[in-house]
Parts: sequence; structure tokens; C-alpha cells
Amino acid sequence: MKVLVTGGAGFIGSHVVDMLVNKGHEVFSIDDMSGGFWRNINPSCKFEKINLVDKEKTSEFVKKIQPEIIFHLAADATEGRSQFTPINCTERNYNAFLHTLVPAIKTKRLKRFVAISSMSIYGAQKPPFSEEMRPCPEDIYGVSKTAMEETLKILADVYGFEYCIMRPHNVYGIRQNIADPYRNVIGIFINQLLGGRKYYIYGDGKQKRAFSHINDVAPYIVMAGFSKNCKNEVFNVGPSEEYSINHVSGLILKSFFGSLDKVPENQKPEHIPDRPKEVKNAYCTNSKIVKIMGYKTSIGLEDGIGEMIDWAKNLGYQKPRYLHELEIENQLTPKTWKEKLL
Ligand SMILES: NC(=O)c1ccc[n+]([C@@H]2O[C@H](COP(=O)([O-])OP(=O)(O)OC[C@H]3O[C@@H](n4cnc5c(N)ncnc54)[C@H](O)[C@@H]3O)[C@@H](O)[C@H]2O)c1
Repeated sequence: MKVLVTGGAGFIGSHVVDMLVNKGHEVFSIDDMSGGFWRNINPSCKFEKINLVDKEKTSEFVKKIQPEIIFHLAADATEGRSQFTPINCTERNYNAFLHTLVPAIKTKRLKRFVAISSMSIYGAQKPPFSEEMRPCPEDIYGVSKTAMEETLKILADVYGFEYCIMRPHNVYGIRQNIADPYRNVIGIFINQLLGGRKYYIYGDGKQKRAFSHINDVAPYIVMAGFSKNCKNEVFNVGPSEEYSINHVSGLILKSFFGSLDKVPENQKPEHIPDRPKEVKNAYCTNSKIVKIMGYKTSIGLEDGIGEMIDWAKNLGYQKPRYLHELEIENQLTPKTWKEKLL
């Protein structure tokens, strides 16, 4: 089939493209390279560098290729930063989504739109989060993902195409942008160690998160585009085990240095104040995806971290890629970004 993957030069998107290419589909991909890498682009997909915030260019491209299935992964996913960049977050996560979807509807060829949302839509409700809970986002990123989800359901109903919404956990693994100083806790920690530096843990580190290896996410996103059972459904994606950031930090240090006793004094993590609006505990139930898509966790956190560290050591330290200036700031802006500590 003719499929379009937005964010195809990014971490999750590039794995999704690879799988679709391997399945023999005609794959088109868009990315503006704000967070993606040329090395991630599959040579067998038809790639175009476009910023989806550009309504005209996006519309022209979508109308030209007439995709039957769209996997929408492009986003500015810097959740903790979204309070300080509300305009950019809305443009890249909500407007960009509409700029992709609306021309696709107009072609009358669109069969299904797979939207990659996030657990941020659940906000500070009591975990574990289940799909029946109503969205109640705590941050601007979560608001933008909630708006995308709700708009998608309305337009699918009015214009008669199918949708599937996927809400992954913290995804990690090979090809993650470890140069991103705003997000991807595992990637940031590893990159700091590669640079011979320490990393910073926001708050007491007891906040809990669930982590998904990329191999336990990308195949289910692909399935969401084709399976009859996924039509007009919403899924949490990932394992149900949750871990504190301190625990994850210990696993990384152990794997990186071979043992916790070998961590150099100047590379021991430092705790700094919490980020504003950061949800303390965010993990969810996965019983729906287990039942409907046959989800099974194939790689545990310790092994997955070991694999990612091997890959990252090979890649080497990456100079952090700070994005454009924050739109608004105050005393709550984390010093890691204000002072560019990473
Ligand atoms: N990684 C996670 O832990 C996680 C968890 C939940 C949800 N998600 C969602 O999954 C999707 C992919 O995330 P990822 O971790 O692979 O991030 P990523 O940054 O590696 O990939 C996103 C890609 O989108 C591109 N992009 C951003 N804005 C764009 C624009 N306006 N036009 C064109 N391309 C644009 C970036 O260049 C990047 O290559 C995002 O929608 C994100 O919100 C990720």
C-alpha cells in the first residue's frame, strides 16, 4: 500500500519506516530534520525534507502522493520544555498534524490515520493509567496530544476514514537522539557519561516511569495501520512494569562502568530541583494491547540498556542539540537548559 510516515528520520519513525519497507509497501517519508538524522533514513523510502508547520508545502506533497495509510510520528516531543515553548509546541504537535491530515482527507484515498500520542494525556491522575480514563493533561505537550486525539476522532467520524491512536511509554533504544538535552532520560544519562560528565536527576529520583524498548513499540505501531482489530481503537503501548529514575540510573551506571564501585566521583549523578508540572508517577496498564494485539515484552530493561550503551559507545559522545530559544521563562525554568549544563 501507499503509506506515509511523518517523522521518518526520527527515532521511532525510522524503525517504523524500516518495517514497512521490509513488508513491501510503497513508503513515503517526511521530516524537517529538527530532531532527525540523515543516517536514520531508509534508502528505499521516498524521502522529502518538509516542515509540516508549512501548510502549503505539506498539502502539496500529501496531495501529490495520495497516501492510503498515514503514520504520524513527527512532533516536538520535548514535554518538560513545552511550558516554556507553548507556541512552538502547538504549531509542531497540533497544527502540523492538521496540515497532514486535512489534505489527505481531501484526496479521498485515506483509509487509516495512525496517530502517535503519548501517556502525557493522562496527566497527574492516579496510575496505572488505562485507556478508559479521560484525558487530563498537566502540560502543554499533553494538551497538544489530547487535542490531536480528539480532533482525529471527530474528523474520522465526519469524513469516514479509520484511525488508531497509540500512546507509548518512554521509548528507548538504538537510534534515539542522545544529543537531545530536553528529553529521553536514558539517552541523556548515557550521553553525559560518554562525555566524561555527570548527569542531573530532577527531584529525589523516586518518580516512577515505565520504559519500552523500541523493538516492543515499532511493530505494534505498524500493526495499528493494518489490523482490523485496531480500527478506531486507542492503545497504551509497552510493558506494565514501572521503575524509579534512581533505579534506571543505577542500571545505566552499572552497565556503563561494569560495576557501581567503578563510577568515578565526578560522574556520580547530582539531584537538582523538580521540573514544573512534571508528573510524579506515570505508568499504565497494557491489558488492552495484550488482548487485542498480542503484545509481549521481548526485551527487559537491563538488557535493553546494555544494548543501547554498546550502540552509543560506538556512536560516541554527541554535542547536545539545543533547539531555538525558549519563548517564556521564569525562575521555574530548569537550570540544565538555562545554563546549558548538558
Ligand atoms: N520516544 C518516546 O519516549 C515517546 C513516548 C511517547 C510518544 N512519543 C511520540 O512518538 C513520536 C516519535 O518520537 P521520537 O521519540 O521518535 O522522537 P524524534 O524526535 O526522534 O522523532 C520525531 C521526528 O519528527 C521530526 N519533526 C518534528 N517536527 C517536525 C515538523 N514540524 N515537520 C517535519 N518533521 C518534524 C523530527 O525531526 C524528528 O525526526 C512523537 O510523536 C512523540 O511525541 C515518543
